[in-house]
Parts: sequence; C-alpha cells; structure tokens
Amino acid sequence: MAMKTSTLLLLSLILAQLLLLSSSTSTSSSTIISRFQEYLQINTAQPNPNYSAATDFIISQAKSLNLETQIIEFVKNKPLVILKWPGKNPFLSSILLNSHTDVVPVEPKKWFFSPFDANIDDLSGNIYARGAQDMKCVGMQYLEAIRKLKGVGFQPIRDVILSFVPDEEIGGHDGAEKFVGSDDFLKMNVGVVLDEGLASPGEEYRVFYAERSPWWLVIKAVGAPGHGAKLYDGTAMENLLKSVESIRRFRDSQFDLVKGGVKAEGDVVSVNMVFLKAGTPSPTGFVMNLQPSEAQAGFDIRIPPTVDQASLEKRLAEEWAPSSRNMTYEFKQKVTTEKPIFTAYDSSNPWWKLLEDAVKAANGTVGKPEIFPASTDARYFRVRGLPAIGFSPMARTPILLHDHNEFLNQDEYLKGIDIYESIIKAYSSYEEPTRDDESRAEL
Ligand SMILES: *[C@@H]1O[C@H](CO)[C@@H](O)[C@H](O)[C@H]1NC(C)=O
Ligand SMILES: *[C@@H]1O[C@H](CO)[C@@H](O)[C@H](O)[C@H]1NC(C)=O
Ligand SMILES: *[C@@H]1O[C@H](CO)[C@@H](O)[C@H](O)[C@H]1NC(C)=O
Ligand SMILES: [Zn+2]
Repeated sequence: MAMKTSTLLLLSLILAQLLLLSSSTSTSSSTIISRFQEYLQINTAQPNPNYSAATDFIISQAKSLNLETQIIEFVKNKPLVILKWPGKNPFLSSILLNSHTDVVPVEPKKWFFSPFDANIDDLSGNIYARGAQDMKCVGMQYLEAIRKLKGVGFQPIRDVILSFVPDEEIGGHDGAEKFVGSDDFLKMNVGVVLDEGLASPGEEYRVFYAERSPWWLVIKAVGAPGHGAKLYDGTAMENLLKSVESIRRFRDSQFDLVKGGVKAEGDVVSVNMVFLKAGTPSPTGFVMNLQPSEAQAGFDIRIPPTVDQASLEKRLAEEWAPSSRNMTYEFKQKVTTEKPIFTAYDSSNPWWKLLEDAVKAANGTVGKPEIFPASTDARYFRVRGLPAIGFSPMARTPILLHDHNEFLNQDEYLKGIDIYESIIKAYSSYEEPTRDDESRAEL
C-alpha cells in the first residue's frame, strides 16, 4: 500500500514535470524562434507565392491556440486566413490585427544566407530571411502574444480577429481590398485595425497614421526629327530634358527638406525617375546621327495626404509637361481621394493613446506619428473610415524591407511579442463605447 502510494506519487510528479516541461517548451524562446523560422521558410515570394503552405501553417498555429478559423478566397488560390479569439461582449466592436502573407522576390546571389532558410547568425542573433521585417514577423508576433495571453488565462472583452491576407506586395486588390468590401468584413464590425509599419534604427518604435499615394507618371515629348549634326529648336530630346530638369529641381527642393530635418520622409512629395526611353534602335545599339522624334520618361511620385493636389497638377501641366513644348502626360497609376485620408492621433481616437500607453507599459517608446512613405493595405481600411495604425515593433534595426539580407534580431523579435501582448491586452479590454460599438448594437 505504502509502496503503491509512493509509486503513484512519483508517477504523478514525473507527469507534472513532463507537463511543465512541455508547456514551458512551447513558450521557450527557442521554440518561439523556431516557429518564426518555420513561417519564414515558406516561400511566399511574388509572383508565385506558396499560399497553400502558408495557409496550412497558419491554420495549424491557430488550432494549437484554439482560435476559430476561416479561409476566404475572393480569388481562386489567393486565400485570406481569418482567425478569431471571441471576446466576452459581442456588442463591442472588434480589434483587427492584419498582416500580409506574401513577400517580395529576392536575388538569392546577393544574400549571405539563403533567403528562405531563415538562418540565424550565431554571433549577432540576427535571423536572415525574406519577410523577416516585411512582415512575417508581425503576423507571428500577434500569434505568440495571444499564446502568452492565453497562457496566463487572459480573456478578451472585444473579439480579437487576425487577418492573414495575400497579394499586398502587388497592390492588395485580390486581398485586403476585396476583404474590406465583403459581408464577412462587415459582420466583424471592426473598430480598429493594426497593420504594418517600418523598422527604426533608433530606440523608438515608429507609428504611422497615413500614407502617401502613388502617382506613376509618364511624360512624353515629340519634336522635329533631324540630322545628329544640326542644331535646331524643338527637338523631342530637348523638350523632354527641360521637363526632366524642372522635375529634378522640384525633387531637390523636397529632398532638401528631409536632409535638413525640416520634414520627415513621409511629409514631402518624393519623385524618382524610373525610366528613360528614346532613340532609334540599330543592330549595334542606337542610331547615332539621328535626333529622334519621340522621347519619354517615367516617374514614381508619392504624394502625402497633406499636399495640395490641385497645385501639383497645375505644376505638372504648366512646367513638367506643357503642351506648348509638345509634351503630353499620362498616369500609369494615380490614387486620389476626395478628401485626405488619415487616422486621427488626437483625443478623438482613443486607440492611439491606448497603443502608446500599452507600448510604454511594455518598456518601449513610440515616436511621433508619421506618414508612411509607401503604400500598405492600411489604406483600404482607412478609406472605409476605420482607424488603422501602421506599427511593426522593430527598434534598433536597420530598414531592410525589400532589400538584400533582410533580417530581424531574435531579441528584438521576442521583445516585439511582449509589446503586442501589452497592446492586445489593452485593446481587447477597452470597454468604453466607440462609434463602431454603437453600430454593432444596432445589428
Ligand atoms: C508549397 O509548399 C509545400 C509545403 O512545403 C510543398 O509541398 C509544395 O511543393 C510547395 N508548392 C510549390 C508550388 O512550390
Ligand atoms: C512640336 O513638334 C513639331 C513636329 O512634330 C515641330 O515641328 C515643332 O517645332 C515642335 N514645337 C516645339 C515647341 O517643340
Ligand atoms: C527597459 O528598456 C531599457 C532601454 O531599452 C532597458 O535598458 C531595460 O533593461 C528595459 N527593462 C526591462 C524590464 O525590460
Ligand atoms: Zn509589407
């Protein structure tokens, strides 16, 4: 009898140890990092992202966390994976944590490590992979933060919803854009969205309340063709170059504001020439003694919502592509909105302060609200009138999105999980009614 009791005791002790071990294993730093590596190892690079492998992985993570799962395909083979952690009060609006599953292509030869191996450099602890910053880190950090919150028995009051969306890197038209227009999305009654931000080399995390709109401009010049030896007015090349010079001066004026610290990168109009096309081809290159009758140039222009678009258009018509100089122009893409689209960061938006305070509570600091220099899926949510905050918790990190040797340090990644744990806790416990809460009560 005594023997049996002690054996039982011993057995149960061993069992308890094993349980402890397994639970501590699934939350130990090395397991957390290996789950991140596993996600990074799935090749979701455009133009042929392996979405089915990413979906399987996310669903398996969700199952291990007991989250509700849903897969939506607005376009075949472009799945959105939706996960839900239901809150206690269904009348309050939900929190949406968005991330995209695709990544940009790589030039593998320019990398130290293979971009889809997710190798860790032993010395620095840096994890090298395409998507380490943009933005598989964020998608996994949301999940790890939920794992921690569940581990301590936390229960959200608001629904916490995670969306893993496809195709952000090619414009998001078959992903986030269709999502925000769907009934599924309406039913979620989202009150606030978190989406991607940018790494920051300094100590502060960057936060974004708006983004610049892309205007992809092509200007074309025509002129009289002629002998390469003849000087005359009104050639296509001369007409084009006058415009190029004028655009360059404007570019300098904007860049000087950034260099001088007067404005942040997202607050100015950026203009970059992306192609020049002219000349008469010959078998050995171009005909050298002929002035061509056509010439064109392309520019990637990014417009902050704070800029007066009408005056920029005027400048375009009068200085950059005047018809008096035989010039025409067209836009390959031109995103405009009736009124400037941005998320408020004053007291009218309680989510902003909640985020700042939650980051502080996790021993981080948030920088000044910024305009994102490029485009993200956040714009689709903002256009619907929802507050959307761009935030990727990566401080002390060089900005390497879309670059060779993209990496994130593993300690920084782990710290980001604590930051999200604090944010998700604060957001999902927030009980004050918001505008969207009222609309849900009416449903
Ligand atoms: C996608 O990933 C899965 C799982 O790793 C693999 O079996 C499959 O071959 C991949 N598909 C393509 C097209 O590479
Ligand atoms: C416009 O192009 C025509 C030929 O297409 C040329 O004769 C004329 O000189 C050009 N004018 C200017 C201002 O470039
Ligand atoms: C808080 O952050 C500071 C600065 O990054 C760091 O030195 C300190 O160790 C952190 N403390 C905790 C408890 O994480
Ligand atoms: Zn991204």
